[in-house]
Amino acid sequence: MEGQSKIRVAVNGYGVIGKRVAEAVARQDDMALAGVSDVDTDWRPRMATRRGFRLFGATPEHVEAMNKAGLDVSGTVEELLVGTDVVVDCTPKRIAAKNVELYRRLGIKFIVQGGEKHEVTGHSFVAESSYASAVGRDSTRVVSCNTTSIVRTLTALKQAGLLKKARGTLLRRAADPWESHQGGIMNTLVPEEEIPSHQGPDAKSVDPDLDVVTMAVKVPETLAHLHYWSVQLTRSATKEEVLEAFRSSSRIAFIRMSDGHKAINTVKEMMADFGRSHDDLYEVALWSDMLKVQDKELFYAYMVDNQAIVIPETIDALRALTGREVNAQASIKKTNAALEIGEL
Ligand SMILES: NC(=O)c1ccc[n+]([C@@H]2O[C@H](COP(=O)([O-])OP(=O)(O)OC[C@H]3O[C@@H](n4cnc5c(N)ncnc54)[C@H](O)[C@@H]3O)[C@@H](O)[C@H]2O)c1
Repeated sequence: MEGQSKIRVAVNGYGVIGKRVAEAVARQDDMALAGVSDVDTDWRPRMATRRGFRLFGATPEHVEAMNKAGLDVSGTVEELLVGTDVVVDCTPKRIAAKNVELYRRLGIKFIVQGGEKHEVTGHSFVAESSYASAVGRDSTRVVSCNTTSIVRTLTALKQAGLLKKARGTLLRRAADPWESHQGGIMNTLVPEEEIPSHQGPDAKSVDPDLDVVTMAVKVPETLAHLHYWSVQLTRSATKEEVLEAFRSSSRIAFIRMSDGHKAINTVKEMMADFGRSHDDLYEVALWSDMLKVQDKELFYAYMVDNQAIVIPETIDALRALTGREVNAQASIKKTNAALEIGEL
């Protein structure tokens, strides 16, 4: 770090993911947040300036509207990007794919989120699996929350030589909490129309060697996703061997029914008690006492905090693209320390 300038980061889109990325960047000692950009004029961008972040608008028209709404705006996103090393695009699905033209024109490295297709960057990122191939690239895509959890867990089993094939059922939260008034289902369960659901194929965009199939159903709650997995192992294994494989990932945390974690709400409550920013659970929270091994078959369930799990990955992706850290584990360790991952 000494003598090296900080990585200058811009965040485009200050919503559910953008505000968490901005906060996480501000916590890294090798990064500086140049500013955040948005199009909204209500309380949400006001929270950015309250936090001390410089606020920008997508276009001169947005800047004007934001000024009129009484927001303290520093300029357009294009002005923000001048002098920035990397931009993290956290705008809604498919908008980032259009913003990419601007980033390319300005010659700025960029990260898009999981709402975009793999083809937008040609590289999909999960730190424990594809960090090395992201080093020095112009861009990458941090995959979706569900895909991140799938790649983390299956990579741990793969690296232990235990993974043959994996089949998972995903119970997906209906909406993000802050926008529950705008939609979300009640009194029903909505199966995804196709099998496989897109998360299995998406995991292969990070690691083509994974033999993985997913099915998904939308459920009427907003806290987090819940996954159930059935895995064929390469050989008979003990429960302790499987737990040891999962322990090799610093971003898989064990929770226990016997410790009172009978449901996903208790885990969120514990994150609040830890004092985590936004009560975020960055880890895959896997029930170690529920996990079952039957000869060559493995069964387990875990919780994915969809709003939080991609945040540490995004921080690692920033170090990989800039080449500031070429070693995946070194970056993961640094990010984990700054976000207090590992205390569960
Ligand atoms: N919400 C999740 O659980 C979740 C989890 C993982 C990945 N993702 C992905 O992260 C990305 C962002 O999702 P989100 O949930 O944070 O969305 P969001 O709707 O909460 O936030 C998007 C923000 O971008 C702003 N915006 C819209 N158009 C803009 C533009 N042209 N320029 C600048 N800002 C603009 C909106 O005003 C909003 O503040 C998507 O790709 C999504 O698929 C979301």
